[in-house]
Amino acid sequence: MLTGKKIVLGITGGIAAYKAAELTRALIQEGARVKVIMTRSATEFITPLTLQTLSGDMVYTDMFVPTDRYDMAHISLAEFADAFVVAPATGNIIGKIAGGIADDLLSTTIMAEDKPTLFCPAMNDKMLANPIVQENIDKLKMHGYFVMDSAYGELACKTKGAGRLPDISSIIEEIAMMLTPKDLTDERILVTAGPTEEPLDPVRFITNLSSGKMGYALARVARRRGAQVTLVTGPTNLPLPQVNKIVQIRTAQEMYKAVLDNFEEATIVIKAAAVADYRPAVKAQEKIKKNRQSLALNLERNPDIIFELGKIKGSRILVGFAMETQNLLDNAREKLKKKNLDFIVANSLREEGAGFQTDTNVITIIDKTGKAEAFSKMTKLDAALKIFDRIRDVIKKKGKSKK
Ligand code: CTP
Repeated sequence: MLTGKKIVLGITGGIAAYKAAELTRALIQEGARVKVIMTRSATEFITPLTLQTLSGDMVYTDMFVPTDRYDMAHISLAEFADAFVVAPATGNIIGKIAGGIADDLLSTTIMAEDKPTLFCPAMNDKMLANPIVQENIDKLKMHGYFVMDSAYGELACKTKGAGRLPDISSIIEEIAMMLTPKDLTDERILVTAGPTEEPLDPVRFITNLSSGKMGYALARVARRRGAQVTLVTGPTNLPLPQVNKIVQIRTAQEMYKAVLDNFEEATIVIKAAAVADYRPAVKAQEKIKKNRQSLALNLERNPDIIFELGKIKGSRILVGFAMETQNLLDNAREKLKKKNLDFIVANSLREEGAGFQTDTNVITIIDKTGKAEAFSKMTKLDAALKIFDRIRDVIKKKGKSKK
């Protein structure tokens, strides 16, 4: 996700400084290169050696240390970075940058750089609520810095409130967001994800193996690229992505209703959900008892949601998925036509690295003319990128045909 990205991480002196070790590690795991600047107070909470070991690079702490090269750290770090992240950001560093004060290596470097820069404030709730700190945060935002909201929860001073460092995963998401070019800002995207559950009685249901990973990856990537995103999701075990609106549903009928409720304003609809084609004709009010030798279930058809959308799509772009165990391309082409889609993303359950629970997928995109482009195995996030690249092509083509 952050492969090859060069991040300069500034650590300032708050108790959450110890979490910067975890952040450094997570950034490296995401494929980023990390150089760390620590303020003097940060080194009171966590040692430079820890960060040096985790980042695999020297840690910068001092403005005035002679090195073996003629290299002004604040300038070379500013040139090196694709992005700056200050985590945790104390009220002090926020105040210094807002006030134009550069009196140590971190504040001087931030003053000397013009790269995307994210502050992740962490401090006592009363400090955070202080109107001067709030004004400083507003000022940073006004000048184009990104500032995350602190998380709510138990603070080091044993009180509860806003002021915790945001989750490491949310910081990573915010960095990815900051670094992604915004080429979908005019779009309102409706994504469906996950399985549906069709209840038989109060304790049992019919479902499928969908994990929701592909749909959530699409929602994330769409948001990173600047789109307004609504996610309609069946039950999954995944943390919910940060998007504009989330509707959690259980059954195919509930998904159908949620999709129709949000269809009008959508410009693009992507149906990555694995919708149950059938539901039990009757849902028993009480638990079904095992007082028979055999039990036949009577199932009835659920609406084919995307088929119904295909009839009313107007100028919207409609993208479906086809999950097959045999005749992948033929079956997918048939679905594409029948459901009036702009393109279909086909994947085979038989392929290694593809399918429901995996973090990777092996996709083939088939367009309206039937032309197929096969991609090799990649993460579901990368697959989502490819799908949106294709959507960009469709948008361009549609724009041209309007002229
Ligand atoms: N889909 C849908 N509503 C359904 C079933 C499927 O909207 N009741 C959508 C899926 O979200 C997907 C596409 O239709 O985008 C294809 O789904 P898939 O399960 O591969 O195919 P089906 O149409 O259900 O056909 P079959 O089960 O016969 O393969």
